[in-house]
Amino acid sequence: MGSLIIKGGVPLHGRVRVGGAKNASLPILAASLLSGGSSTVEDVPELLDVETMCGVLSSIGARVSRSRNKVTVDATEISSFSPPYDLVRAMRASFLVMGPLLARMGCARIALPGGCAIGSRPIDLHLKGFAALGAEIEIGYGQIEARADRLEGARVYLDFPSVGATENIMMAAVLASGTTMIENAAQEPEIVDLANFLNSMGAHVRGAGTTVLRIEGVPELEPTTYMVVPDRIEAGTFMIAPAIAGGSLVIENVVSEHLKPITAKLRECGVTVNENDDGSMFVERNGRPRGVDIKTMPYPGFPTDLQAQFMALMTTCSGSSVITETVFENRFMHVAELMRMGAGIKIDGRSAIVEGQNKLLGAQVKCTDLRAGAALVLAGLAAEGQTEVSDIYHVDRGYENFHSKLASVGADIVRVGSAEAERAV
Ligand code: UD1
Repeated sequence: MGSLIIKGGVPLHGRVRVGGAKNASLPILAASLLSGGSSTVEDVPELLDVETMCGVLSSIGARVSRSRNKVTVDATEISSFSPPYDLVRAMRASFLVMGPLLARMGCARIALPGGCAIGSRPIDLHLKGFAALGAEIEIGYGQIEARADRLEGARVYLDFPSVGATENIMMAAVLASGTTMIENAAQEPEIVDLANFLNSMGAHVRGAGTTVLRIEGVPELEPTTYMVVPDRIEAGTFMIAPAIAGGSLVIENVVSEHLKPITAKLRECGVTVNENDDGSMFVERNGRPRGVDIKTMPYPGFPTDLQAQFMALMTTCSGSSVITETVFENRFMHVAELMRMGAGIKIDGRSAIVEGQNKLLGAQVKCTDLRAGAALVLAGLAAEGQTEVSDIYHVDRGYENFHSKLASVGADIVRVGSAEAERAV
């Protein structure tokens, strides 16, 4: 049920197109609650997490319609400030409706979020921001309620540049009275995309992409039409694919600026990476790559969402490498599964020491979270024999048609079983 069967050792060749960014689509869909009209978001990937966000928006009264990669959210009437527990539990990013609901309705009540099991992932910074804007926060029975008759602009310093907290506070602040400054803000491209979306609705957000955001509140926002930025994590995953499986790929619809850390590290390994003028990237493996060290960091550092996939590559390189995870405290769950395929990895605190092996061996392995799942699929492309990657619904949360895109460039990969049946277990 819900597995991918991969026969490894087949080099990849051809072109693959990257879709719109999941991590930009989710906050942007949440932000569409901020206007009392109908906004359209284009190039939204068809993913489980997007489905969940659409479900959250519908559950509070928005009318959501979808035609392939275009989602229209009519937020004229919002009938509830409390999305149901089941939807919020399914995905941590559901919590992103808190800021927009607080700004629009003066109240939001949400269950404590769920999502990938990659550490404790608190929400204290989101709440610190809402409180600074004047909201009263109450926590009890696994729920959080925030209330404010009128949000007032304020200065908020984030102890860590949290992506979600920056987004949630930004969305609350756009309708507050006066000016909000978010200091030590996250600088991820998805933050810039959300700010651009909000500005296209008439908001005044300045400084997105730097560490200080300045938001002048406005009384109301207009509906808009907007196209989300390409998914840099999907792009990075496809860049690693020929590096581990062999061959070459042209990856279309990328913003090369967003991929600097992965480009630099692949080149350091000896992989050819060319940035083409037409918004595509050419990646080619030339012999066996060498092991290199990486350390995950907030943007523009090496993204934590590519750590697992890069580790899969490192397991097959010559020499050793040290992979240090600084963003999440429990993001090595793929290690045990990679070791089932013959990888040589030792964990020492927040670092994994990887001894590259001459070959990986196909095995039955299980996705433990979204990016871990992608890493196992990549490892399967390189492994000798057959690999079965189960619990593939994790991968469906973040990669649109992952296996068909890989099959279209030559991978021997098929899907068996239904993800729905598996999720129901
Ligand atoms: C987002 C991305 C996720 C990515 C992560 C880091 C979305 C939907 N998800 O998640 O794919 O892996 O950024 O790039 O965009 N933290 C706190 N207090 C808070 C909030 C966060 O301590 O209030 C900590 C977290 O525990 C974690 C670190 O900050 O250790 C980074 O989390 P954050 O940047 O908030 O990640 P998300 O927004 O959840």
